Amino acid sequence: MSAHSSPAPASPPKEAPVTVPALARMAKDGQKIAMLTAYDATLAAAADRAGVDVLLIGDSLGMVVQGHASTLSVSLDELLYHTRCVAAVHPRALIVADLPFGSYQSSPEAAYAASAAALKAGAGMVKLEGGAWLAPTIEFLTTRGIPVCGHVGLLPQSVNMLGGYRVQGKTPDAAESLIADGRAVAAAGASLVVVECVPRDLGAALTQALAVPVIGIGAGPACSGQVLVIYDALGVTTGRPARFVRNFMLGQQSIEAALTAFVAAVKDGSFPAPEHCF
Ligand code: KIV
Repeated sequence: MSAHSSPAPASPPKEAPVTVPALARMAKDGQKIAMLTAYDATLAAAADRAGVDVLLIGDSLGMVVQGHASTLSVSLDELLYHTRCVAAVHPRALIVADLPFGSYQSSPEAAYAASAAALKAGAGMVKLEGGAWLAPTIEFLTTRGIPVCGHVGLLPQSVNMLGGYRVQGKTPDAAESLIADGRAVAAAGASLVVVECVPRDLGAALTQALAVPVIGIGAGPACSGQVLVIYDALGVTTGRPARFVRNFMLGQQSIEAALTAFVAAVKDGSFPAPEHCF
């Protein structure tokens, strides 16, 4: 590609766009859901051509794009900018925008304003971190036509409370409380729930407990689908990769081939393998 060429468009779509009901059908039919983060048009188009079902504009962009030690500094404007970059390629995949720290916690109305801006930027769903305490906000959003993805388990926006990025739900009490959080989020109307860094049995129990698809990251193979930060999946992360990461570039000749391998491994259940689980 020359310095001035645009990213290859995400084709003319051959398949129907991925919708919220389509994700529910996939989970019901036992088809695994492949989700990757995306922050720019070129990699979003490559991931879309590879067959990824959901593109998440994660606030992980604060770490992997901006170089910060946490996700906390990401602003809503920055998140919207990256959402517009991804939406510009009109992917077949459903676009999910993370609501950044400080944009939704104070009130349902604040969450609504941030979510409406994300949908105007091209997202089809927003993601919020938190459990039962967020249920009124999720209900406020979903009754107003805004699809919501919950996020339970390790909550990177709460790193200052947690004291680090650690596996969650390790004791029976913590596991029970996490399942109660998942149930509350789903009962409030969330159409999708991400669960991050929990023992594989807890990932399985949460998936079993909820009627909506559960997407795991470090949560074992029994989840309805898997998500990774795209740079982790491409092996370009600096520092020691987390246990749940697999470098899909190994043995591949191109980024698109690596992303296709990620999708195939999620769909056939070979990722995550035991060595990626807690
Ligand atoms: O911000 C992000 O990339 C995320 C994923 C790790 C699920 O929330």
